[in-house]
Amino acid sequence: MRLQLLTWPAVAEYLERSTGILVPIGSTEQHGPNGLVGTDAICPETLAWSAGERDDILVAPTLAIGMAQHHLGFPGSITLRPATLLAMITDIVESLARTGFTHLYFVNGHGGNIATLYSAFSAVHAEASLAGQASPLRLRLGNWFDGPRVRALSQRLFGAADGSHATASEVSLSWFAHPQARREVRMTPEVAPSGGFHDAADYRRRYPDGRIGSNPALASVEAGAQLHAAGVDDLVEDYRAFLATD
Ligand code: NI
Repeated sequence: MRLQLLTWPAVAEYLERSTGILVPIGSTEQHGPNGLVGTDAICPETLAWSAGERDDILVAPTLAIGMAQHHLGFPGSITLRPATLLAMITDIVESLARTGFTHLYFVNGHGGNIATLYSAFSAVHAEASLAGQASPLRLRLGNWFDGPRVRALSQRLFGAADGSHATASEVSLSWFAHPQARREVRMTPEVAPSGGFHDAADYRRRYPDGRIGSNPALASVEAGAQLHAAGVDDLVEDYRAFLATD
């Protein structure tokens, strides 16, 4: 169930049944020669929408722009500064809490968001702690690519060639959501180099086509369908466990 497609009385009715919500969060950034700029938002969104349909869970609008400073050497990438993302997350959490939600589960598709998301969670909790209040608010971050079923499947499908950016897994899942976007591109070298990075210029110098450690030429819509099924199972299981925490 998507929040954007409900009326406010329908949201109030949902809150009688549950005070939990999924918030897909991603990024808008290059994903190598054959991956979509929207990959990191599309992946958590498609999993959250399917989990929401299957299990009567409300899904907030996708936060499609994240912290992606290191990708700015490639056209089409957009970043929020960490401080901007932190302010945005804090405002969203406080808005949802103000209207009755207590359990907010961020379904994340982008590693670059993780540090800032945890900082935002601490910032929100600090307000209650400093005020000496006991808040019912519970916050969780789940990276779709870290679920146990997804990890095992990615390993089985692609092994080490899955890589760490523009992975064969994420490209497959985004193609499953948008099959018309599939394209064949020859990768040179087949598997991209691995390592770290600092700023956008450094990233572009080390990883000229945008990939890190991956061979997304192995991606397919069929693999995406399997990852989708595994990802929805992982998400529903983790969300249910989270809801059960007080
Ligand atoms: Ni990605």
